[in-house]
Amino acid sequence: MVTGAVRTLREDVEAAVVGAVRRAIGPGTEVDPLVRRSERADFQSNVALSLAKSLGQRPAALAQAVRDELTDGNPWLADVTVSGPGFLNLRLADTALTGRLAQRLADPARLGVPCSREGEVTVVDYSGPNVAKEMHVGHLRSTLIGDCLARTLDFLGADVIRRNHVGDWGTNFGMLIQYLLEHPDLPWRERDLTPAGGDSAAPATSPASPVSALDELYRAARVVFDADPAFKERSQRRVVALQAGDEAAVAAWREIVTESTAAFQRVYARLGVLLTLDDVAGESSYNPELAGVLGELQQAGIAVESEGAWCVFYDDIRGHDDRPVPLLLRKSDGGFGYAVTDLAAVRHRVRDLKATRILYMVDARQAQHFTMVFRTARRAGWFGDEVETAHVRNGTINGPDGRPFRTRAGGTVRLEDLLDAAERRAAQVLAEKAPDTRPAELARIARLAGIGAVKYAELSTSRLKNYNFDVDQMVSFSGQTGVYLQYTHARIASILRRAADDAAAGFAPGAGLEPAERELALLLDEFPATLDAVAGTLEPHRLAGYLYALAKTYTAFYESCPVLKSAPAVRATRLALCRLTAATLSQGLTLLGITAPDRM
Ligand code: ARG
Repeated sequence: MVTGAVRTLREDVEAAVVGAVRRAIGPGTEVDPLVRRSERADFQSNVALSLAKSLGQRPAALAQAVRDELTDGNPWLADVTVSGPGFLNLRLADTALTGRLAQRLADPARLGVPCSREGEVTVVDYSGPNVAKEMHVGHLRSTLIGDCLARTLDFLGADVIRRNHVGDWGTNFGMLIQYLLEHPDLPWRERDLTPAGGDSAAPATSPASPVSALDELYRAARVVFDADPAFKERSQRRVVALQAGDEAAVAAWREIVTESTAAFQRVYARLGVLLTLDDVAGESSYNPELAGVLGELQQAGIAVESEGAWCVFYDDIRGHDDRPVPLLLRKSDGGFGYAVTDLAAVRHRVRDLKATRILYMVDARQAQHFTMVFRTARRAGWFGDEVETAHVRNGTINGPDGRPFRTRAGGTVRLEDLLDAAERRAAQVLAEKAPDTRPAELARIARLAGIGAVKYAELSTSRLKNYNFDVDQMVSFSGQTGVYLQYTHARIASILRRAADDAAAGFAPGAGLEPAERELALLLDEFPATLDAVAGTLEPHRLAGYLYALAKTYTAFYESCPVLKSAPAVRATRLALCRLTAATLSQGLTLLGITAPDRM
């Protein structure tokens, strides 16, 4: 059965309220129906309170008039009452609820969710790790938030272009390349690294990767660089050679990039993140554009010279010393930097990729950088209001104790070590819960649960807030965790398996609904609005929070409404509620990038 977008009940209520107000007071007025869910009924509208004053009417009288119009000709509204100073309380007929859910159930691919973002071309710039550097906990947030938004916007019909703005260029590469060329036998390539031991049943420790090896070698090179003037000079010559396209230097650089990006891909695969090698457009890919960007900004008088460097200044963007902060395009030594690369990238995204919306998932500490980049691009006339640019900023992850996250030795914490810890903890918790599970099965589920727990902990927190990376709390079967949601989904799947003998699941017309069934039904109908809110605010925690509320509401329903043992008509409706809840949880978790297994 082919079905299109299914309207939400709330949209119907809003339309009905607007229509009723127009009939009550006459056409012409702009009406905001002010509808929300309510404790006393299904929905409440405060429209009378907001309009009464400007119309010179008493709110209660206006509410009564709107009520009369509402009940007239809307049989799907079972009950409309006025309470307090003029609140309208609306209760929907049970058949309105079941009818709507039946339409969603008939559309398993989309659950009736409209393609509200169709026609948009959205670039999602996320992850952006740095070549030859370990991916650390700081990259986790950008990677997970970006992946969730890319998935959600894609589901809503936007044309999504993922971009991994890898840090693959800079003068520091001269030093590393020089060191590697002088020590050709050092192991850092994937094929030269020893794989870590450990059986597959118990996730051990992730093996060292080329990026961890290169990260260490970089530090070793730094020590020599600082101590040995001759090495320093050879390194500097190597930078010049690299920039001039010298074959040996370029070949070494290319290999470092290849090994590093392959290592990043292994982390993405483990995380279930969509980014591929095709999505990599590293800083170096904009090198051919940089001189042109600078030239254009110079000609327009936007870039100005300052102490031998070329910069853009804004009078209202000042540093601690109260002097305008420079957006550095070209340093006095002639080198191009991070900012001009981002300018070239944004121009390319609008001009060549035809982006209408460009989203940057980057740490809040880069807020000023992006403000200046966006303003400069608009000033240069590269795009106007038809293109939205947004720095989708995030806070930091702290250690379990709430202090900055460091290893015992004071270093940055490897992302892979955190994932190892989450998987190990998940394996323990699962083994306690189901001691008879086969080891291979346990390991498989522990991986899904451990990774899911890390992702859910991230995505259920407002991205602006800082949070503590606490594995014990993340991997808990109770509370707001990924494991709880996966487990709820698996429990529903198990009920549906046991009911497989009859294909009876369906919303039987005329069957009345219990309060717990109505609660669940109304919440299931809110899925599309939740996704729209995520797309608008770029806040994944709205979806994560919705799914948690859905799992809890389902649990309350299940505890008060027996499914398999009830009378046939009731059983069919309850099975249909189970099926739609499982489908909504599964789709929602998929958009968070979390696997929803059928068994746990
Ligand atoms: N490589 C940068 C870092 O690690 C992040 C890149 C963010 N994206 C961008 N277009 N600047 O901080």
